[in-house]
Amino acid sequence: MVHYVDAATAPLKIDGSIRLYDAEAFERMREICQITAACLDGLADVIKPGVTTNAVDRYVLEFGLDHGVVPATLGYRGYKYSSCTSINHVVCHGMPNDKPLREGDIINVDVTYVKDGWHGDSSRMYPVGQIKRAAERLLEVTYESLLRGIAAVKPGVRTGAIGEAIQTYAEAERCSVVRDFCGHGVGRLFHDTPNILHYGHADEGPVMKEGMIFTIEPMLNIGKPHVKVLSDGWTAVTRDRSLTAQYEHCLGVTKDGCEVFTYSPAGLHRPGLPPLS
Ligand code: MF3
Ligand code: CO
Ligand code: CO
Repeated sequence: MVHYVDAATAPLKIDGSIRLYDAEAFERMREICQITAACLDGLADVIKPGVTTNAVDRYVLEFGLDHGVVPATLGYRGYKYSSCTSINHVVCHGMPNDKPLREGDIINVDVTYVKDGWHGDSSRMYPVGQIKRAAERLLEVTYESLLRGIAAVKPGVRTGAIGEAIQTYAEAERCSVVRDFCGHGVGRLFHDTPNILHYGHADEGPVMKEGMIFTIEPMLNIGKPHVKVLSDGWTAVTRDRSLTAQYEHCLGVTKDGCEVFTYSPAGLHRPGLPPLS
């Protein structure tokens, strides 16, 4: 089981223990997060039928080394890879292997680079060749749910507003929200307080303050929300083996909203889907 999240106690946390970052820190986060985003842009040309997730992982490692950064996942709690590669019914923490991707697969690649102690964490979905309409719709709904969560970020508002915005939209679109994994504070640490739940109510969670930095990374399923972790200790899958998707952004709370650090420099926010207007 993965223990770095503790979703159950998240609503009880008070914001006293949540670190606030200054303008200098925001600049460092902009830099590292834009390298992560550029790697995710590059992967759009790498991912196609026949390519293995080991090759994807190698690209992530080499891109990082070329840019003077290191994957934070390498050696993290015993994890051995530069990325997580989660295909079809794999919710998150899929481990790269030598199996080729197949036409019609959907894959999430999650990359966290670290430089001088600053962490940039982001993930996107990639269609492999032509995918089914139901899969494409899941990707659209999942990315839109992330945008709605981002739109709820504002000082003075509780983090529960993020979860409420995501859950309300996702369920109206007949998708379910995974409860077992959540977003998290990020910056000097890979996983820090607060936990950012992707479900819940606006009156729950700590009050957001200018200077907080965290991720939002909703996982949406076509079927039921329940997941299980395989015996490898990492791979999380939907219990009903339904299709699942996730996108992740890293952001900082500003005076009147937030700055998203991991937006695609190439406009490839949703690789393989029509560009957002
Ligand atoms: N990047 C993931 C996240 O969004 C964490 C991956 S930890 C690993 O929080 F060890 F599985 F790589
Ligand atoms: Co994350
Ligand atoms: Co991530």
